[in-house]
Amino acid sequence: MAKKKLNIGIIGYGFMGRAHSNAFRKVNNFFDLEYEPVLKAACARNAEKAQDFADNWGWESIETDWRTLIARDDIDCIDIGSPNNTHRDIVMAAAEAGKMILCEKPLAMNTGEGEEMTAAVEKAGVANMVWYNYRRVPAITLAKQLIDEGRIGRVFHYRAKYLQDWTISPELPQGGEGLWRLDASVAGSGVTGDLLAHSIDTAIWLIGGMDTVTAMTETFIKEREHSLTGKKQEVTIDDACAFLARFDCGALAPFESTRYARGRKNQNTFEINGEHGSIFFDLEDPHRLEYFDNNHDSHVHGWQSIHVTDFEHPYMDHYWVPGTTIGYEHTFVNAIADFLKSLEDGQDAMRPNFRDGLETQYICDAVLKSAKTGAWESCKA
Ligand SMILES: NC(=O)c1ccc[n+]([C@@H]2O[C@H](COP(=O)([O-])OP(=O)(O)OC[C@H]3O[C@@H](n4cnc5c(N)ncnc54)[C@H](O)[C@@H]3O)[C@@H](O)[C@H]2O)c1
Repeated sequence: MAKKKLNIGIIGYGFMGRAHSNAFRKVNNFFDLEYEPVLKAACARNAEKAQDFADNWGWESIETDWRTLIARDDIDCIDIGSPNNTHRDIVMAAAEAGKMILCEKPLAMNTGEGEEMTAAVEKAGVANMVWYNYRRVPAITLAKQLIDEGRIGRVFHYRAKYLQDWTISPELPQGGEGLWRLDASVAGSGVTGDLLAHSIDTAIWLIGGMDTVTAMTETFIKEREHSLTGKKQEVTIDDACAFLARFDCGALAPFESTRYARGRKNQNTFEINGEHGSIFFDLEDPHRLEYFDNNHDSHVHGWQSIHVTDFEHPYMDHYWVPGTTIGYEHTFVNAIADFLKSLEDGQDAMRPNFRDGLETQYICDAVLKSAKTGAWESCKA
């Protein structure tokens, strides 16, 4: 059957530009869907680099100004893979033009922007998604299934860590291409918006909303040369953040993130302890879900390491034979597959949408506020 074409215009050719391009190209090979993304136009400010990117990934054309991209009649869907300080303006213009919008995380620089953006897409009635791709790691989706099946029962504890080590050197500059994450005027915040936003999105998806938080942050290197000015400037991002949370369900939780954990490259873990069992996940071992089932007879109690590669595991019937693994890039393929399917099934099927992204934004802002006030802060609107 002929597919319905969905013409995509992507903004940004960096890490996420590549991950998204790959997903758009692969999704119809693995998933049987009514819709097919067409790689219509790639947009970045540098025409030469944009053309190289377009040639490499199969984009039909390029633009150097996102406003021109949004104005094009042949674009149905705007995909935002540019830094955080660009998300708001692009979303407002794209919603106004009636385009569907796929936006990278964190949704916005702060809740004020996030509220505006969410209101704009809801008013325009356009399909929208935030790329919190870890929901689409099959082992994490399986964790959600186990919880929804009631297997671990009432949740007492949630414990999350997101650790990296790439900013330890004081010689590392801040700002500019590739290093915008160290410049709060572009990133909004440091590890809180960049890394903990992922942990928070996963947590609220798995066990429901967060009520209050108390946090501490630290900036270990106080000044760094700015790549764009060549001058030493104050560093205003949080290099590390630790916070305690109370969830609506009553669970207690510590969350921790840093870019100063020597040896940890992208260690994203969570453990959930419930009345009848526990669950543990580590992104550095992404196809395994550790599960403790207290319903087993006590003499065979023990943690199971589930190799999440069987046909009955989430997403895995779309790929290879049992026992063979998929990778990081497939979390984006799975996300876009779910988005395209939601266009068949009705928009409400698509999660996380902007409103979900906004919920995480409220929590990030509460964390950053608490780090300043030293008080418990509400995570609610
Ligand atoms: N979902 C995830 O796991 C994940 C992982 C990494 C990054 N991200 C998010 O994706 C976004 C991009 O991050 P990245 O790592 O790909 O960054 P990157 O630095 O690798 O790429 C950013 C791209 O945006 C372009 N750009 C910057 N300003 C622009 C403008 N005004 N107009 C057009 N293009 C512009 C840059 O030239 C570059 O091509 C951020 O919001 C980030 O938080 C999400």
